[in-house]
Amino acid sequence: MKKILFVTSEAHPLIKTGGLADVCGSLPKALAELSQDIKLIIPNYQALKTSENVRFLCSIRVDNRNINILETRMPDSHVIVWLVDYPAYFNYPGNPYVDELGEPWSNNAERFGLFCRIVVEMAMDRANLDWKPDIVHCNDWQSGLVPALLSLESNRPSTVFTIHNMAYQGLFPASTAALLNLSGQLWNPAGLEFHEMLSFIKGGLVYADHITTVSPTYALEIQTPEFGYGLEGLLDHRKEFLGGIINGIDLDQWNPETDPFIAQNYTVTTLNKKRLNKAELQTRFALPVNDCVPLFGLISRLVEQKGIDLILECLPEMIAMDMQFVLLGNGDKKFEKQLQKMADLYPDKISITIGYDESLAHLIEAGADIFLMPSRFEPCGLNQMYSQRYGTIPVVRKTGGLADTVTDTLPGSLSNHTASGIVFNEASSGALLEAIKRTLVLYSIPDTWKKMQINAMKKDFSWQRSAEQYLALYENLLGYTQE
Ligand code: ADP
Ligand code: GLC
Repeated sequence: MKKILFVTSEAHPLIKTGGLADVCGSLPKALAELSQDIKLIIPNYQALKTSENVRFLCSIRVDNRNINILETRMPDSHVIVWLVDYPAYFNYPGNPYVDELGEPWSNNAERFGLFCRIVVEMAMDRANLDWKPDIVHCNDWQSGLVPALLSLESNRPSTVFTIHNMAYQGLFPASTAALLNLSGQLWNPAGLEFHEMLSFIKGGLVYADHITTVSPTYALEIQTPEFGYGLEGLLDHRKEFLGGIINGIDLDQWNPETDPFIAQNYTVTTLNKKRLNKAELQTRFALPVNDCVPLFGLISRLVEQKGIDLILECLPEMIAMDMQFVLLGNGDKKFEKQLQKMADLYPDKISITIGYDESLAHLIEAGADIFLMPSRFEPCGLNQMYSQRYGTIPVVRKTGGLADTVTDTLPGSLSNHTASGIVFNEASSGALLEAIKRTLVLYSIPDTWKKMQINAMKKDFSWQRSAEQYLALYENLLGYTQE
């Protein structure tokens, strides 16, 4: 049994802004099921919700400040959670990273810098809890300084850094390095410095013993200039220590057979009941209730990454087709306004909800016929997997985890029962529109559509295999560092 300290800035159901939370909520549980001794460490945000007891565990002193560590559990699980409780930094309402206007909190470097310092103290067992991890597994830039700081320690645990999204790097002015009291040893272009900025993500990419990302295709993509944002050279240099492990999904939370948020539960053998969810979804979005019309759904952060601009370019042609479109999302105000305008113009065809609504997301997965995900890049993506499990056919661009988890519908994949979606190549509205037209042709052939739905629902997206890959990686690393 290995001791693993799992470091994250979000984990569902404690706190969530996106897929990072889904993964960091469910992977630790899957590792615990493989009999590993795993603890999760996360900042104690005001918005963090736990249904379990919370108790004081210990106090840590860094930079003349006392920081309390509280202990709780992941709801409905045995996974222990350590909460880094520093109210001056984390006791604000709302989002962990940005203020109510969508601007990053002005002290993010100090907030996550302190978080990383505390993680290192706990990882070195300096609170004398008699629990020192073998592995410290960090996720995304908010935990990037942990491998860097640990590299300065002797007798340290092994470190893994998982990239969930290269587009977010935690870049701050160079003066921040002094503000955070970072050792001069770390401050050079081969270390944390990136074009005269302090880069949190480089802490993970340079100093972690091993780097993973959340799909094999994205692991290759980030070694190219298009997806590497100037860090492709570093990643290429470290490619021997870089690999992709595809995310799984939480099969209990995303299960059409038991989902409490949908109008009617169903399985692969009672697929005809899915139409009740479609009717409920049309009602909720004030669209005409009609079982025959193909219903497109989309749930997303409304940002460039997700190809929202491509959808906006396609909508004028889509409204000429027999279809409906529902969207749930928030993010870039420009996209929110443009989408709202289209919905106001075509209320019988397009309906949108701006906001964040976990239960509505479940109903869309269950009620839509087709799920749109034309991402420009997608490290893994979870909604295309949720969609397939709900028999909702995803239309995706061939990138990152979308390429790794959706099988295009072609004569060959139909005959070998793997066809589970529509995949297109180019990031252009023309290519997306062609894919949409191809989807509508397939939708009009009920036997073929049903075959695709069944293939999709039968796919295995469980965490088991991926958690075993992480475990094999940990074992390898321990062999390696003990030599
Ligand atoms: P990313 O992490 O890049 O946003 P993913 O596909 O990995 O993309 O995960 C997104 C997660 O966030 C999914 O669980 C999705 O259902 C959820 N989500 C995104 N936007 C919303 C929203 N507006 N309301 C509810 N859930 C949302
Ligand atoms: C990021 C990526 C997304 C991935 C998620 C979880 O937010 O954008 O593709 O699924 O992390 O790994």
